[in-house]
Amino acid sequence: MKTGIKSARTLFPATKKVKYFFNGGICLIPTPVQTALSEFTDQNRSGFSDKNWGVWSENVSAAYRLFAGLIGASQSEVVGIPNTSTGTGVFALMIDPKKGSNVVYDDLTYNTVFPFSLRAKTGVEQRIIRNDRGSIDVGQFEKAVDDKTSAVVVSSVSCWNGYRYDLGQLSEIAHAHGAYLVVDAAQHVGAIGLDVKKDGVDFLATCGHKWLLGPPGTGFMYVRGDLISKFDPPLPGWMGIDDPGGYEMWKPTFPRTALRYETGMPSMMLLGGMRASLELINKLEPASIEREVLRRSGYLIEKLSDTGVDVFTPTEKEHRAGLVTFLLKNHQQLFAELSKNSFVVFHHPETVVKNMHWTNGGFRIDPTFFNTFEEIDDLVDHVRKWSRR
Ligand SMILES: Cc1ncc(COP(=O)(O)O)c(C=O)c1O
Repeated sequence: MKTGIKSARTLFPATKKVKYFFNGGICLIPTPVQTALSEFTDQNRSGFSDKNWGVWSENVSAAYRLFAGLIGASQSEVVGIPNTSTGTGVFALMIDPKKGSNVVYDDLTYNTVFPFSLRAKTGVEQRIIRNDRGSIDVGQFEKAVDDKTSAVVVSSVSCWNGYRYDLGQLSEIAHAHGAYLVVDAAQHVGAIGLDVKKDGVDFLATCGHKWLLGPPGTGFMYVRGDLISKFDPPLPGWMGIDDPGGYEMWKPTFPRTALRYETGMPSMMLLGGMRASLELINKLEPASIEREVLRRSGYLIEKLSDTGVDVFTPTEKEHRAGLVTFLLKNHQQLFAELSKNSFVVFHHPETVVKNMHWTNGGFRIDPTFFNTFEEIDDLVDHVRKWSRR
């Protein structure tokens, strides 16, 4: 059956049961991905064979190739990782900020910044840009970055409110001082276009289980081509050497591609699923996905604006993606009601509300291309009921 973006909802059987707005949390796995995962277990019934190994290896490299294509990279700059955190951890080991240097990030970032922020213990200065009602003034980065900055580290789309950076502006600022731009793109790639070359990104990590529609335990990292040979693999492993099948034990040599950052056995089964999801994204067309995601987040913001809740996501198209955050006093009651009515949404935890200096509890709603406008209207009706009390 030919499936375009308009009929793609049928590929997500769970949408018959739930109104799913947690797409920036854990995606619903589309049926082609389910099929690919069970193909692996079927093939595995005959165990290891050259044929199976060939199929599984090809799935891995197809997933890397397709991901590279999606972000405008070359395949030699991309390798699989189990999650975003592994990527930023590896980047911090490579860049290795030293005492006396500084790292610059913002308060809308995710915990994937830990490998950099924990360097405070070793004397690396932390310069944190503060958001203003969910938006960031990039001019603040200009002031904070200097010749002692080793890295500017951002979530290109914030998971707290969907604020989206113009990465090109950030890379210009970072590069003018010889600093690297490190990007966590977990809430970005798969929903909104990103071109690492055009935007001057040096390091990027993401996970498969959100907008890339893949299984948890998958992800990718990108290292800018000319930087690859500069960094020895921080976690060297047998699959990352020139000839993994040669079992060189003592004097391994490493390829001049991102495959040098491969450690041991990649998740062949999960990457088979990831391949299927990336093929689906290409079939639906990334530009169409972006258009439909932005239409829905824009529609939701517009509808919320007359309910009286406090919307903390920028209205400008270029500064938002698929996540919309709002706050209201009766958030506990609204959460109970939404859950009772089969909505799956993200209720901001108290720690986040406190960190952000927000006064009320909040929600993050993540509409994507398969959500209907009726579902959004339905959700806003519930919000209206509790915002007016
Ligand atoms: C911006 C961002 N980065 C990363 C993650 C997840 O990190 P990991 O892939 O390491 O589980 C999330 C999950 O919510 C996120 O929102």
